[in-house]
Amino acid sequence: MAPLAFLLLLLGQTLLCTAVDTISSTTPLSGEQRIVSKGNKFTLGFYSPQSNATSSSSSTYYIAIWYSNILPVTTVWTAATDVLVSDPTTTVLAIGSDGNLVLLDQSRNRSLWSTNVRVPASSSTVAIIRDSGSLDLASASNSSVTYWKSIEHPTNTWLPGGKLTLDKTTGVSQRLVSWRNNTNPSPGLFSLELDPSGTQQFIIQWNDSISYWTSGRWNRNSFRIPLAPEMSNMQFVDNDDESYFLYSMKDDSIISRFIIDVSGQIKQLTWMEISKQWVLFWSEPQAQCEVYALCGAYGSCNSNGPPYCNCVKGFSQKIQNNWDLQDYSGGCKRNTPLQCQTNPRSAHTQSDMFFAMEDVRLPDNSRGAVATSSQECQMICLKNCSCNAYTYDSTGCFVWHGDLVNLQEQYSGDGGGTLLLRLVASELSDPEKSKTAIIGPVVGGVAAVLVILAIVSLFLFRKCRRNKTLQISGGARTNLRYNDLLDDIQSIDSLLLDLSTLKVATNDFGEGNMLGKGGFGMVHKGVLPDGKQIAVKRLCQNSRQGLGELKSELVLVAKLRHRNLVNLIGVCLEEQEKILVYEFMPNRSLDTILFDSGRSKQLDWGRRFKIINGVARGLQYLYEDSQLKIVHHDLKASNILLDFDYNPKISDFGLAKIFGGDQSEDVTRRIAGTYGYMSPEYAMHGQYSTKSDAFSFGVLVLEIVTGRRNNGSCNSEQYIYLVNLVWEYWARGNAIELIDPSLIDHPCPN
Ligand SMILES: *[C@@H]1O[C@H](CO)[C@@H](O)[C@H](O)[C@H]1NC(C)=O
Ligand SMILES: *[C@@H]1O[C@H](CO)[C@@H](O)[C@H](O)[C@H]1NC(C)=O
Ligand SMILES: *[C@@H]1O[C@H](CO)[C@@H](O)[C@H](O)[C@H]1NC(C)=O
Ligand SMILES: *[C@@H]1O[C@H](CO)[C@@H](O)[C@H](O)[C@H]1NC(C)=O
Ligand SMILES: *[C@@H]1O[C@H](CO)[C@@H](O)[C@H](O)[C@H]1NC(C)=O
Ligand SMILES: *[C@@H]1O[C@H](CO)[C@@H](O)[C@H](O)[C@H]1NC(C)=O
Repeated sequence: MAPLAFLLLLLGQTLLCTAVDTISSTTPLSGEQRIVSKGNKFTLGFYSPQSNATSSSSSTYYIAIWYSNILPVTTVWTAATDVLVSDPTTTVLAIGSDGNLVLLDQSRNRSLWSTNVRVPASSSTVAIIRDSGSLDLASASNSSVTYWKSIEHPTNTWLPGGKLTLDKTTGVSQRLVSWRNNTNPSPGLFSLELDPSGTQQFIIQWNDSISYWTSGRWNRNSFRIPLAPEMSNMQFVDNDDESYFLYSMKDDSIISRFIIDVSGQIKQLTWMEISKQWVLFWSEPQAQCEVYALCGAYGSCNSNGPPYCNCVKGFSQKIQNNWDLQDYSGGCKRNTPLQCQTNPRSAHTQSDMFFAMEDVRLPDNSRGAVATSSQECQMICLKNCSCNAYTYDSTGCFVWHGDLVNLQEQYSGDGGGTLLLRLVASELSDPEKSKTAIIGPVVGGVAAVLVILAIVSLFLFRKCRRNKTLQISGGARTNLRYNDLLDDIQSIDSLLLDLSTLKVATNDFGEGNMLGKGGFGMVHKGVLPDGKQIAVKRLCQNSRQGLGELKSELVLVAKLRHRNLVNLIGVCLEEQEKILVYEFMPNRSLDTILFDSGRSKQLDWGRRFKIINGVARGLQYLYEDSQLKIVHHDLKASNILLDFDYNPKISDFGLAKIFGGDQSEDVTRRIAGTYGYMSPEYAMHGQYSTKSDAFSFGVLVLEIVTGRRNNGSCNSEQYIYLVNLVWEYWARGNAIELIDPSLIDHPCPN
């Protein structure tokens, strides 16, 4: 009986514990106690990041919030304390006498941390952990009145619903700051913030001073780099007092976090329940070595990592332990001091030598010196014991005093070259090194002159080696073989139609003939003199579709002939008009039927299957069978037209891209297309290939089978990302329930 009673007691306690989400003036929190949000999503308590690492004898504890149901423990917030907590049993998190939430060291009767806001004297307060991951200091009588929210004071994690704010009156930006190392939440060297100078862009900085990445300006609804539009909505609010960014997940069931990592990169990670792990959705800057000074002084970054950091020749890691935790900022130290340091009076020219490091990104903070040869440049460096390296190339002589930071190996970009690193001669006696790499000192008679030159040159500061760090990887290459195509434009001549003919055919573009309207312009129905029915796409004068896109569409469609591609009948480019004329499709576009509850019954399974097959045939022709290799780029239900017999025809080649024969993928910087249909690698990184269309085709097939619009309809405020929805059903084993109900009346033929 005793064990059972014990079990019941335990159970009772657990239930009691999970029920509590509040710290009140009478129920402080200490030791092993936790509070858990109502939906059991987040837990708050004392947490020690080291408890799993090596010897836990001297663990340090932090007040932290973590995901209740994710292992290993993943924190989203920690209270920043100057004084470390080593014994949580004598430390309490409680409501203080002034209404603030405070962390008290009871053994020494002192406050370690406080929310530090003004609470009206009349109000008594409680702290509540919410399912959003926020710890809110709220009024005890009305918990929707809040005075402070942890989600608005983020540490290294920006959660959905949190704000990153620039306070315009104080000019202070809310910052996301990296951890010191993987087990130490105290502030590290990297931070993300809204540019305090008001440029409406995010910047990542090193040590509060050097910014090595910018998001680019916020442009209505995205950055230069789209930050996961497939998953989240980012919103920018700008008023007189503050501007801030806010984001939310399109699907609340997605567990996702945005962090600035120990490695100096920002990352979006998503929890995959199936594989029980965090999956990296995107990171910026994409190349680890673009993080400024990642490897610390005399460390050199290698993009083929991990490990990304190595010490340069003649140096070794200052603090080995930290490197194991990915904190490289301690950098490296010289194995053997330079001769000029140990024995400054010795003949300087006999002692130190130079080791040539080829193809490196040269370190930051070089100084220009006046020298007409590599040897003169070397002499300038040798003369001053604080000079650690030099380089000499067609742009002149540059020397480095003090620590070398931001070096990168195997580098061929801007600001690269050969660095001559100063080392004590004994470091270079290593026989395996080729002699050409070692440059001995030259005894020069012109030394005195050079010293003067060197001093003069100190005034000639040149800082030409830094801009590159602001650039971002992933270049835009245009490989369109476009000129070949323009030569072909003559072939359209036969397609030219008169404006007057079209006016007659469409009743002067009359309202009654209108078939549809979009951002691009309008589509009218018309009848040519020979009785042929046509669809006339009249682009707005200021259409987004520029002349370039129009021509690309024209040439493509004119050259492509396939029963599953829409057939271009003619074009008209008179009087500033841009008009495309297609064969008329009596059943219009697929979306007008598929997503219309009244009409969707017209599409029985046989017809839907025919449509899927037809679109696949059209795509195969685009990729393999036509003379060009074409990525459509905007495949979606509204671009599939249906003829009288429901044969599908792919239309709208305005965004199509042409590949060279042996080319299979490319990168674009401008993300164009329709969200929800874009493949993740395209939406996130601008990479596209025929696989991009295959992704869109997959989404289209899901739409056809389920009868659901991928990106929500105009009248439903809820956004459905169909791919996720289907995946959920699929994982639960009941995907069959998603089949369009209007198909039930028409069972599948065997
Ligand atoms: C500690 O390690 C054990 C096994 O190594 C693991 O099961 C547990 O989840 C870890 N705990 C934390 C807090 O990471
Ligand atoms: C703790 O410190 C506060 C002021 O900081 C003081 O008012 C209080 O008396 C102290 N309590 C004890 C038990 O020393
Ligand atoms: C609680 O405060 C909110 C916001 O101030 C207010 O809208 C609501 O009516 C209050 N509820 C009660 C029960 O007082
Ligand atoms: C960061 O900057 C501070 C002063 O702004 C300076 O004292 C410190 O040395 C810098 N840290 C590193 C690693 O350079
Ligand atoms: C993490 O960084 C801190 C501060 O730099 C350092 O004291 C600590 O030793 C590091 N942690 C480990 C386990 O090395
Ligand atoms: C060496 O260079 C440092 C830094 O530029 C300068 O302060 C120092 O005076 C120089 N020493 C000599 C001996 O020229």
